[in-house]
Amino acid sequence: MCGIVGCIYKKEPVLDFLIEGLERLEYRGYDSSGVAVIEKGALFTSKQEGKLNQLKKALKGENCSSFIGIGHTRWATHGRPSQANSHPHTDIDNEIAIVHNGIIENFQELKSELIEQGVQFSSETDSEVLAHLIHNQSQAGKIPLEEAVRLSLKKAKGAYAIAVISSRDPEKLVGARLGSPLIVGIGKNGNYLASDVPAILKQTNKVIYPNDGEIILLTADSYKVFDLDKKSVKHKVHTIEWTLDQVTKNGYDKFMLKEIHEQPKVIEAILKQRNPKGEQISFEELNIDEAVLKGIERISIVSCGTAYHAGFFIKYFLENNTDLPVDIDVASEFRYRKPKLNSKILVLTISQSGETADTLASLRLAKSKGCQILSIVNVMGSTIDRESDGVIYTHAGPEIGVASTKAYTAQMTCGLLFALYLAQLRKEMDSKSIKAMLKEAHKLPEMIQTVLKQEKHIAEIASQHAYAESALYLGRGFNFPSALEGALKNKEISYMHAEGHAAGEMKHGPIALIDHKLPVFCICPDGDSYEKMVSNVKEVEARKGLIISILTEGDKNLESISKETIFIPKIKEDLTPLLVAIPLQLLAFYIAETKGCDIDQPRNLAKSVTVE
Ligand code: AGP
Repeated sequence: MCGIVGCIYKKEPVLDFLIEGLERLEYRGYDSSGVAVIEKGALFTSKQEGKLNQLKKALKGENCSSFIGIGHTRWATHGRPSQANSHPHTDIDNEIAIVHNGIIENFQELKSELIEQGVQFSSETDSEVLAHLIHNQSQAGKIPLEEAVRLSLKKAKGAYAIAVISSRDPEKLVGARLGSPLIVGIGKNGNYLASDVPAILKQTNKVIYPNDGEIILLTADSYKVFDLDKKSVKHKVHTIEWTLDQVTKNGYDKFMLKEIHEQPKVIEAILKQRNPKGEQISFEELNIDEAVLKGIERISIVSCGTAYHAGFFIKYFLENNTDLPVDIDVASEFRYRKPKLNSKILVLTISQSGETADTLASLRLAKSKGCQILSIVNVMGSTIDRESDGVIYTHAGPEIGVASTKAYTAQMTCGLLFALYLAQLRKEMDSKSIKAMLKEAHKLPEMIQTVLKQEKHIAEIASQHAYAESALYLGRGFNFPSALEGALKNKEISYMHAEGHAAGEMKHGPIALIDHKLPVFCICPDGDSYEKMVSNVKEVEARKGLIISILTEGDKNLESISKETIFIPKIKEDLTPLLVAIPLQLLAFYIAETKGCDIDQPRNLAKSVTVE
């Protein structure tokens, strides 16, 4: 996915906003970037391959007085990262500039038609097609810009969030969205377009969320929204709860570390909001009838990446505390494996961004089969939020680091509360046990804080293993998903090969990997799986693996065979993944830091994958 911004001011130069807005969206993609402005009736564009700093260098000293402009930070889909392929894209007469997030699926067909009309292309991208289409439709300014955009988008198939300006219409900023996120900021000094809230939060907290298939016409002091058939659409103006502090590093060197440390407060806020007295559990925005929830016969959890691992934990928690069978799928498989779905199945999607293409496609498939859709999302107003029957907001605040941390533990917390809510509603767990579990859950914020106090010790362990070629993560039961998540955190920010396995699976193959050079992170807290985990750890020791154990405080049993140990406070086994997550996140962070990796913007990744 990419980050787009647009702005039209009443009387302020726009360039500073464009650059700062792109800085706040750089987590969405960072292989190239660019801006376009209109100055004295002419269109000026500057775009650079590489990180945003390259663009800032190119613009240094520019004296730009333009009040209107657009900007883009790219995660390449069509066309490798290069200066030519970066956005904005312009037409052959340099009148129209466009920035685009998404994929125009029929771009080849449109491109061939345009080439036959004599259009010369300067990039390999699908997005450039839109610039030429809009230019043709505008008929040298005879057709208003918003109308030229509308006519062009009616020809395009696929996903887009765009911002467009024209030197022939310098008082207008036009936006549109279909399948990719776009918000509209309504400000005192002007109006804004952006892919995500952090880009505009310094300027305004008043936003509207256009729907798919809508076009937005902005001037410096007005806005209009209409659909592809020119029908006007009214939208409520929302006030964003997030603060600027939450989208800045606030003294931390990396967003990821800041967000790791925010977890005690995030979990505490969720518990306080949804279970204030440790008894009644409430989900004000659930919006699914109790009768429907009583009648469901199965739950199908669908998500991607870290959200998938959170879903895996929720599956175990649901099946341990209710009578419901629960399936779990990665969304990219679910949407194609022809799942047998019906109205008795509750599909639970989990997504931090609420824009992940595979998860959204799975939601739409399930909806088409009559399933009730419940989603656990962090970004309010996101597409998954708006297309679900019911939602549970994690309220984790913006998660800027590409590697998901606080969203993960927030998703697990919301999931376990929902499971207990269901158990209560369906009378599948006695109230005494529910209260006991909730009492344990309310200990989590303080316990997470306790684990965070071991940061220095964990950083030292990480530095010992930072240059290992590979790493294994082993867990059982509730902590099998923890092993998967620990491996993902490590590989995605330190680029070390890492695998998570169910510890019982070791003997079926992965044990062949073990030698004296291989760090093996063994997740072995007190609980039903403990004894079996001890046997697995001993199998690793017998092959001279480097054992790093995550144990419950007071456990002396494995300490003697572990190279290093990390302790977590004693808590009910069902809840241990929420504590285990902390050392796993910190290990990955400090392995990556030891290796000098770009932790907040790991290579090849983006914060939300809004394309297939
Ligand atoms: C996690 O650290 C990754 N950044 C990635 O796996 C992410 O969890 C996945 O892309 C799902 O994103 P979502 O939660 O926004 O849907």
